[in-house]
Amino acid sequence: MSRPRVLVTRRWPAAVEAALCDRFDTTLRPHNTAMTVDEIAEALRNYDALLPTVSDRLPASVFALTPIRTKILGNFGVGFNHIDVAAAMDKGVVVTNTPGVLTDCTADIAMLLLLTVARRGGEGERQLRAGEWKGWCPTHMIGTKVTGKTVGIIGFGRIGKAFAQRCHFGFGMNVVFYNRSPVGSEEAERYGARQLPTVEAVLAEADFVSLHCPGGAENRHLINAPRLAAMKPGAFLINTARGDVVDESALIAALESRTIRGAGLDVYEAEPQVPDALRPMENVVLLPHLGSATEETRTAMGMKVVDNITAFFEGRDPPDRVA
Ligand code: DGY
Repeated sequence: MSRPRVLVTRRWPAAVEAALCDRFDTTLRPHNTAMTVDEIAEALRNYDALLPTVSDRLPASVFALTPIRTKILGNFGVGFNHIDVAAAMDKGVVVTNTPGVLTDCTADIAMLLLLTVARRGGEGERQLRAGEWKGWCPTHMIGTKVTGKTVGIIGFGRIGKAFAQRCHFGFGMNVVFYNRSPVGSEEAERYGARQLPTVEAVLAEADFVSLHCPGGAENRHLINAPRLAAMKPGAFLINTARGDVVDESALIAALESRTIRGAGLDVYEAEPQVPDALRPMENVVLLPHLGSATEETRTAMGMKVVDNITAFFEGRDPPDRVA
């Protein structure tokens, strides 16, 4: 029997590429650029499995083709708002993701952003590298103390919880959170956290607001101008979730008017485009979507995709099926 034809849309860690080539008739796309909609449509016509990443867009229009050969999209990543899952389901295409394995590294990046923006780490490094540091003095580059402050977490899933744990047990912070569904107080206490009933209640208490909810239609512009205005003066916004959770224009306006003190961002509305207005702002830390970017995590993500499509082609239910 011929082996399933699989297309990997980017270069993946070598061990994962080897595992895929071992098990499937695998094509490794040699480019590290996003596939165009036409390329994706062509791939859906010709491969049994397509393995996309967050930066490959699969809107409803690409599923309008007939016939589609692809039976499974093994997404490399936990977030899947770049795939029109309803349109995929309509065509009988199964979608899987890679939850769990990137929890710690994404929570670490959120902590890195929080600390860097509060303590002006990016700004300090830029000053030193530019040869502009004049030496220690009591008023040089004064930041904001983190220990003992309140962090407000929006979305208390795996990553939100891991971040709460770091903030509370690592940095002595008070943790409040908003989550759509109730989290038992015993469970919340394990993370040193307290659930509040609304996003607004969290914004009213938090010195740092960190976003850990999914992207996509349900949370689009969850943080908008009124909610930025509802943050405490002097508060910071951290986003490692998805760019579309924040209205980027409203964020720029809030930073320019000093409605909030700063922001730490790993994700953007139109990645890899980062608004020009953000680049010169010293009170903003900008990372290029590095949440899961460690050797261990990227390999584990890839291996999850291998497990998902292996299960599927062996007639079992893929462990991380989202549709
Ligand atoms: C994810 O897994 O969703 C990360 O953002 C990287 O894709």
